Amino acid sequence: MQIKDMSTSVSAGSQAVEVRVCRDLDELQACVELQKEVWGFADADLIPLRMFVVAQKIGGQVIGGFHDSELVGFSLAIPGNRGGHPYLHSHMLAVRELFRNSGLGRRIKLAQREEALKEGIELMEWTFDPLEIKNAYLNLHKLGAIARRYNINQYGISSSPLQGCLPTDRLIAEWWLRSRRVVDFLDRGQAPQVKPDLMIEVPAQVYEWKANPATRARAAEVHSLNRELFLTAFARGLAALEYERDSEGNGRFVLGRWDENWSYGS
Ligand SMILES: CC(C)(COP(=O)(O)OP(=O)(O)OC[C@H]1O[C@@H](n2cnc3c(N)ncnc32)[C@H](O)[C@@H]1OP(=O)(O)O)[C@@H](O)C(=O)NCCC(=O)NCCS
Repeated sequence: MQIKDMSTSVSAGSQAVEVRVCRDLDELQACVELQKEVWGFADADLIPLRMFVVAQKIGGQVIGGFHDSELVGFSLAIPGNRGGHPYLHSHMLAVRELFRNSGLGRRIKLAQREEALKEGIELMEWTFDPLEIKNAYLNLHKLGAIARRYNINQYGISSSPLQGCLPTDRLIAEWWLRSRRVVDFLDRGQAPQVKPDLMIEVPAQVYEWKANPATRARAAEVHSLNRELFLTAFARGLAALEYERDSEGNGRFVLGRWDENWSYGS
């Protein structure tokens, strides 16, 4: 497994990108613009500049990736509290298309972790679509997050054709920043040992199936089967601890029992 370092300026593709906390209103406004570009949201659905400003002022984080002082990636996290413990909810992570798959998304997450640790935060959470193979791979395999909670239809059924009119089910990624698993993995380069109890498969074609009305039913089948498998597995105390992908682009969650007891309640 390849572990990349977190120096402040490394190459993303052939271009140097600096990762750091956003400093002023212009940089925060650039995050809003990049958000528009990456998700194509209508204005009514955009997280506005004011929220980015507030997030920074109340203990959240806005971190950017800069290429020649142009913003090419960002993350937005807001503070939360669970069971009396402060934690961060990372609401957005985006990288401009040209800069993807060069490790920048991961570097921004690592910078989030560094900043959080400076503030004494131990947990960062975010949600992700269980059918999104790339995001699951990044979260579980490249960062060492785990998932053991599942929200059914979190945002209601979206009209986006890319979602294939499926319910917006979400897994909750828990990134325990000081856990043995994450420290061994990120700081020492040792992949976590997982004793698998169950695998949950995601076929690579699921994106095409969702996008095409003629094959949408197949995506819906995978969606409902996997929903049942996750809910049953989580009720048995299992957690998604690893994510594997094969040469054809299929993904699979590896579930087992987590041997650490980090928890703030759910
Ligand atoms: C998710 C996102 C931020 C990742 O950024 P990125 O800079 O491409 O991420 P990284 O390069 O650090 O890591 C991505 C990894 O996934 C891998 N990957 C790429 N496509 C993949 C696929 N279809 N299936 C599985 N893994 C895939 C990459 O190869 C890379 O792994 P590697 O370093 O071992 O090669 C970016 O794709 C993005 O902006 N997506 C749109 C917005 C989004 O979905 N945000 C997340 C939810 S809020």
